[in-house]
Amino acid sequence: MMSPILTLFYFFLFLKIATCGVQNNNFTFNGFGGAKLDLDGNASITPEGLLLLTNATRLMTGHAFHPAPLRFKPPTGETLSFSTTFVFAIISEYSEVSSHGIAFLVSPTVNLSTALPNQWLGLFNSENNCDAANHVLAVELDMIENPEFADINDNHVGIDVNCLNSVDSRPAGYYSGSATDQFESLNLHSGEPMQVWVDYAGGDIHATQRYHIPGSNA
Ligand SMILES: *[C@@H]1O[C@H](CO)[C@@H](O)[C@H](O)[C@H]1NC(C)=O
Ligand SMILES: *[C@@H]1O[C@H](CO)[C@@H](O)[C@H](O)[C@H]1NC(C)=O
Ligand SMILES: *[C@@H]1O[C@H](CO)[C@@H](O)[C@H](O)[C@H]1NC(C)=O
Ligand SMILES: *[C@@H]1O[C@H](CO)[C@@H](O)[C@H](O)[C@H]1NC(C)=O
Repeated sequence: MMSPILTLFYFFLFLKIATCGVQNNNFTFNGFGGAKLDLDGNASITPEGLLLLTNATRLMTGHAFHPAPLRFKPPTGETLSFSTTFVFAIISEYSEVSSHGIAFLVSPTVNLSTALPNQWLGLFNSENNCDAANHVLAVELDMIENPEFADINDNHVGIDVNCLNSVDSRPAGYYSGSATDQFESLNLHSGEPMQVWVDYAGGDIHATQRYHIPGSNA
C-alpha cells in the first residue's frame, strides 16, 4: 500500500473502507510489529515496530502492503468511500539534498517488481507510466521537480491515477483552521514526522496533511 524511495518511518496507519450502508475493512496499526505486512525490496520492520521502507541505499525501492487484499469495488448500485491516515518522516541520505519521496498506493497487485526507483517512486516505469491498465491510485509526496511529469515544484502532494503526471497536485502544507485559515507550508524534506489524511468519497478525493504533534490527537 505504500511505495517509497529513500527513507521513511511510518508508525501509525488507520484505514476505513465503506460502501453505502456496509462498513468493513476498518483497521488501525499502532506500530507494525505484529502487522504481518507484505514487504518487498528494502522495506523492513524495525525492532521498535516502525516500518522502514528504504535505508538510504541508493536506487532502491521498498513496498509494504496490507497482508490481505481489500475490496475497493463496491457492490452494484453502491458507492465506495475510504479514509486513511498515517504518519511518516522522510530522512534523506544528505540533509542538503532531497530524496525522491513516497506514495500511498492502491493497487490490484503487490508485484511491483518492474517499478523503478528515483523519480518513478517505485510505482511505474517508462513503459507502463500512464497505462490505463495499471488500475493504480496513488497519493505521492514528491520532493524533486521532474519536468517529464509536469511536477509543480519540488515539495508537493499529488494525486496520481495510473500515471506520475498527477491529475491534481498542490504544494505540501495544510490550512491552519484558525479564523484566518491561512495556508501553512510544510517541508517534506525536513525529516520531521508529519501526518497525512486521504479521504475518498464516491469520485472525490482529497489529501490533506499537517504536522503530527507526538502525543496529541493532532
Ligand atoms: C473504525 O475503527 C476506529 C478505531 O477503532 C473507530 O474509531 C471507528 O469508529 C471505526 N469506524 C467504523 C465505521 O467502524
Ligand atoms: C536492498 O534491496 C536489494 C535488492 O533486493 C538488495 O540487494 C540489497 O541488499 C538491499 N539493501 C538493504 C540495505 O536492504
Ligand atoms: C542499510 O542496510 C545495510 C544492510 O543492512 C547496511 O549495511 C547499511 O549500513 C544501512 N545503511 C544505513 C544508512 O543505515
Ligand atoms: C512479478 O512480475 C514479473 C514481471 O511481470 C514476473 O516476471 C514475475 O514472475 C512476477 N512475480 C511473481 C511472484 O508473480
